[in-house]
This record gives sequence, C-alpha cells and structure tokens, in this order.
Amino acid sequence: MKNLVILISGSGSNMQAIVQAAQRDDWPGCLHARIAAVVSNRPDCAGLDKARALGIATESLDHRAFANAPEPRAAFDAALADLLDRHAPDLIVLAGFMRILTPGFVRRYAGRMVNIHPSLLPAFPGLHTHRRAIEAGCRVAGVTVHRVTEELDHGPILDQAVVPVLPGDDETRLAARVLAQEHLLYPRAIERLLREQLPP
Ligand code: GAR
Repeated sequence: MKNLVILISGSGSNMQAIVQAAQRDDWPGCLHARIAAVVSNRPDCAGLDKARALGIATESLDHRAFANAPEPRAAFDAALADLLDRHAPDLIVLAGFMRILTPGFVRRYAGRMVNIHPSLLPAFPGLHTHRRAIEAGCRVAGVTVHRVTEELDHGPILDQAVVPVLPGDDETRLAARVLAQEHLLYPRAIERLLREQLPP
C-alpha cells in the first residue's frame, strides 16, 4: 500500500478534492494507495478541520516555533522530515503549502513530491499569480501540477488546465475560476501518477 501525505497551509480545498476523489474512486482498492495524513504548518488552518471531518489523520508543525533557531528554515524542514518519515511517504502532495522548501529537504524526497501552482508555468512562478496575469493582459490563465525540484515552481510539468481571463475580471473572480479547475486537475494528476507506478 502506497502512503500519501498531503501538506497544506490554508483552506485545504485541494486537499479536500483529493481526499474525496480517493474515497469516491476507492484508491485503496484500485490503486493500493491511502492518504496517511494531512500535515499543516499552521495549526489553526481551516484545512485541518476539513481533513478531520473526512476521517483523515492530521498533524501540525508550526513554523513559527523555529523562528529563533540559527537557521529557521532548515530547522523547520528537518522537523518536518522527521514527522513525514513516521508516515513512510511514497508521495508527498503539496496542496497550498505556502513554504519555500530547502534544497536538502527537496533532495531527500526527490521524485516523491508534487505541487499545484495557480498559473500556467513557466509563467508567473511565485505569489500573486492572478493579479500578475491580469496586469500582463493575459487572455488565458490556469493551473499547473508539477514535480517539485529545488528551484521554486519549476519542476517537470505533469498536467495543466487553462481558463479564460474575462473582461472585467479581478483577482478574486479569476482565482475562483482557476480554483474550480484545480479541484478537477489535482486528483486526476495524482491518480494517473499512482496508476503509472502500479506493478504490471
Ligand atoms: C491554491 O490556489 C493553490 O494552487 C495555491 O494555493 C491555493 C490553496 O488553496 N498554491 C500556491 O500558490 C503554491 N505556490 P487550498 O488551500 O484551498 O487548496
């Protein structure tokens, strides 16, 4: 059985879409995969409540607790790796996990980590993707699921979905249109990845 761990920081709507797809399509039965835990760096985020309501184990690791460490980012990532390794993750799914990961952490889980980013990468890595797409006059926007590599928002692309940018769009309207596609794209991309890894 493959273990998936989903990392979140906020509302957890992508995590919810993935868990619901796993439950609907019976991933343990057909894909030999289970969602072992949902982990957040924000103990009070709404996504953790959603995960618990779906019957998934949750854990949190507050990044603010590492603020006084000599190297806060490395200290947090080391503690996160300890936590994750207790779940023996075969796939780590970043779903709105708003932390920049250290190269050492990324190397430790090389080939085992995927992310969703709300733009058509390689356009608009980083933050404020929808605002930047509107300001640039883009006629289309979208979302990318990609493998995680050391360079932020730059790993090999697994799948993308495109939405129109409509006249009068603001950041909120465009974000909602993209998010609806995220909820379809991410579970599908993960399911395909797991299927490809199934023994013949
Ligand atoms: C999603 O739009 C996701 O693509 C984005 O954060 C949101 C999380 O929403 N991720 C990033 O910006 C990562 N660079 P959710 O918590 O409701 O899934």
